[in-house]
Amino acid sequence: MSLMEALQWRYAAKRMNDGKVPRQSLDSILEAVHLAPSSYGLQPYTVLVVEDPTLRERIRCAACDQPQVSECSHLLIFATWTEVDGRHVDELIALTAAARGLDPKELEGYRQSLHAAVAGFATPEGRHHWAARQAYIALGTALTAAAAERVDASPMEGFDPPALDALLGLEEKGLRSVVLLALGYRDIGRDRLAGLAKVRWPRERVVLEWSGV
Ligand SMILES: Cc1cc2nc3c(=O)[nH]c(=O)nc-3n(C[C@H](O)[C@H](O)[C@H](O)COP(=O)(O)O)c2cc1C
Repeated sequence: MSLMEALQWRYAAKRMNDGKVPRQSLDSILEAVHLAPSSYGLQPYTVLVVEDPTLRERIRCAACDQPQVSECSHLLIFATWTEVDGRHVDELIALTAAARGLDPKELEGYRQSLHAAVAGFATPEGRHHWAARQAYIALGTALTAAAAERVDASPMEGFDPPALDALLGLEEKGLRSVVLLALGYRDIGRDRLAGLAKVRWPRERVVLEWSGV
């Protein structure tokens, strides 16, 4: 299946059939998350993978009772780091130097500009929104990777982040949930959206071939 066929095939399944996503497919999707690009390469988020059905049932209560939370195979929770500071920058610089066989001194100018960037958020909320945008890039990458694996993926903002964070003790871990992704298999019999035509604005409304002012 081509990438375009996969993107046509995918939809946000509302009902899933409890089928298990094989480890190999799950790993491909998680590796796509791992490889997602981010601002400065800081990847200021953690993705929690929840398989345990009992825990997913409890999470469903904090997620507007959406059935896909308990009917999926694995639930991914995209959570931003509540702190992003100079320590992360220094770690990233050390990692970059090691990965590319560089002397960290060669990256000093870059290190300083990254320090300025992470210190430059006006408020913690502003930093959170920046981190959330990075997490959403990983979400989009996961959606595409899931389609390529023929795994259904249902993104969800319909949940109560503070309630979920309290349930999982995320605040203590320096995390804040922003979006969920249920991975599994569509239940064609029960999902009223299965097989329906895609609904998108006309392409020229979404994409403008810009030819000047
Ligand atoms: C960030 C995000 C959050 C979403 N949250 C929910 C949700 O909480 N519940 C739900 O049923 N669908 C949710 N959706 C699914 C969208 O409604 C769906 O992607 C959109 O209608 C386009 O349809 P399609 O993905 O099936 O092609 C969400 C989608 C995205 C990208």
